[in-house]
Amino acid sequence: MMIYMLDTANIKEIERLFDLYPIDGVTTNPTIIAQEQKPLRRLLVDIRRVVGDDAMLHVQPIGSKAEDIVAEAMEYRDLCKGNYYAKIPVTPQGIKAMQLLKQRGVKVTATAIFTQQQALIAAKAGADFVAPYVNRLDNISSDGIGVVADIMTFIKAYGMPTKVLAASFKNVEQVHRVCLLGAHAVTITPELFESLLYHPLTDRAVWDFYHDGVPYYDELEMIDTKNNKA
Ligand code: E4P
Repeated sequence: MMIYMLDTANIKEIERLFDLYPIDGVTTNPTIIAQEQKPLRRLLVDIRRVVGDDAMLHVQPIGSKAEDIVAEAMEYRDLCKGNYYAKIPVTPQGIKAMQLLKQRGVKVTATAIFTQQQALIAAKAGADFVAPYVNRLDNISSDGIGVVADIMTFIKAYGMPTKVLAASFKNVEQVHRVCLLGAHAVTITPELFESLLYHPLTDRAVWDFYHDGVPYYDELEMIDTKNNKA
């Protein structure tokens, strides 16, 4: 089944959407954290409080050397507790850090993926998720969906346990296309998540149902009350 995650650190939006929808987790990166203009550690504690221990929480260290990435990731794991993932970019030092973190039993999401081979190497390094950036590829006239398709093909061909967490979306069609490929997970902004559900004809149908039915439903309620009294 598709795993849906929110690509945001906005507490109000996380709280609102987790209350309404079947969402599995939250992904963050330094840019997303900066948008909230609050210290990282405080935000992480708040997000965990809102989503609970079972939801996935993906946090990206900012260090560039493997040892620094590992130290940071361990600190965030202790802070976030629960279902935590260290989100590591696929640089050479990042790939080293992924292997070190897996040895320590930390779950890993490989991020900032733009090519098939980056995903394959990260999967071989033990990444639990690989995150190709669909819209950023589309933006440079490359083929974001095609990259996801290739990654799905070799993950199946090699029988790897790694899951594809497609990321960086700007529209519903991109999300739809990666679902058709059988991608395991998507991470999207709250605004785009709500666009997945929205259709004006649904709103119109609900409005018509209400106005057509309300006089008779009221009547039914009266009959029901009378019957109960009888
Ligand atoms: C991945 O997890 C990233 O946080 C994200 O999806 C990047 O999206 P953007 O290209 O909209 O910044």
